[in-house]
Amino acid sequence: MPGIVIVGVQWGDEGKGKATDLLGERTDWVVKFNGGNNAGHTVVIGDEKYALHLLPSGILSPGVNPVIGNGVVIDLEVLFAELDALSARGIDVSKLRVSANAHIITQYHRTLDKVTERFLGKRQIGTTGRGIGPAYADKINRVGIRVQDLFDESILRQKVEGALEQKNHLLVKVFNRRGITCDEIVEDLLSYAERLRPMVCDTGLLLNKALDAGEVVVFEGGQATMLDIDHGTYPFVTSSSATAGGAATGSGVGPGRLDRIVGIVKAYTTRVGSGPFPTELFDEQGDWLRAAGFEFGTTTGRPRRVGWYDAPITRYATRINGITDLVLTKLDILTGLEKIPVCVAYDVNGERFDEVPVNQSDFHHATPILEHYAGWSEDISSARTFEDLPQTAQDYVLALEEMSGTRISVIGVGPGRDQVIVRHDLI
Ligand code: IMP
Repeated sequence: MPGIVIVGVQWGDEGKGKATDLLGERTDWVVKFNGGNNAGHTVVIGDEKYALHLLPSGILSPGVNPVIGNGVVIDLEVLFAELDALSARGIDVSKLRVSANAHIITQYHRTLDKVTERFLGKRQIGTTGRGIGPAYADKINRVGIRVQDLFDESILRQKVEGALEQKNHLLVKVFNRRGITCDEIVEDLLSYAERLRPMVCDTGLLLNKALDAGEVVVFEGGQATMLDIDHGTYPFVTSSSATAGGAATGSGVGPGRLDRIVGIVKAYTTRVGSGPFPTELFDEQGDWLRAAGFEFGTTTGRPRRVGWYDAPITRYATRINGITDLVLTKLDILTGLEKIPVCVAYDVNGERFDEVPVNQSDFHHATPILEHYAGWSEDISSARTFEDLPQTAQDYVLALEEMSGTRISVIGVGPGRDQVIVRHDLI
């Protein structure tokens, strides 16, 4: 079973590292297929802590070939800053391969991201401000700059000129900003070209050959199902395909080659930025959950919004992605609660919805219908089998499994790499 996709079930920050760690030594390739440096994951190896935003986590494992696929948007300054920081700490980054078709985030994308958000006022998305949305907009508008354009200066110049034509009108006349010159962008991009060149190739071909040879390829999704451009809480979403379908389009590997779809879900829910969040807590319980779970953004440091587990969302994600296995993370954070509330359905103006409502206004007005499960007070961080868990914790997990429509194969009981209970192997 060599093609394994890892996706977030909720609004991101579910702890995908748990799954990549578990696949660890058996992984030959790790592919990032969507998003850019809006992601953020902290990987702890021994005493060392690494914060990655753009690079796939596989870059830290000596035996793994890391790949940035065509579905990614790349900020070259961030790419090389991350590579340099890792090299300085003795990590070999020479195996990284980058798709010739991946799109580039430039200065005008970053600027537009920030000014657009400011102009949206109350309606703002709460983006990470990294230029992600504007770079994907250019891709869809067919005025994007791709990695391969960096190796032909005259093509690059034509494309940047074309892209800037409308943007400068917008920046100067609508947003009251200074115009951006083609020269400054081209000069900046070309300054990275020679360093980038040896990494660039047809990554789709590379990955298909790896699969042909029976190697294990892990497709690491950025963000999560509810932030997906098609299936998330639009418009409060990111601009890429964060669901399993994106693993195929964002890497050049056919959907039939994706053998297992692993969904990562936290034992409660968090979200960054604006948008609906039915189980959100605004009281002291929320403050407690945020502090207990260390729920502050890796990329932005923003305190995350927190709430209880939302079963219809997991069921929705299971359907949309075709999830075969769930990894339930951070179960230990709930230790000490007398009763654990779980959202089993929604109430929308007096009507019960058992599934995520398709209508945006309904989801905005949804309040959770909660069921309460008995909690536990024992420390579960050293549990390594399901039976090591207190009966009430087992019951909580089994109830979530029953409601989610797929099996919970792995349970995280602490931040360490080994703090997991494996009920079914992921590979
Ligand atoms: P953008 O991806 O910067 O355009 O932001 C769009 C929305 O996605 C905002 O609500 C962000 O907070 C959210 N977002 C983007 N990346 C992540 C992530 O890695 N974890 C959680 N939320 C994210």
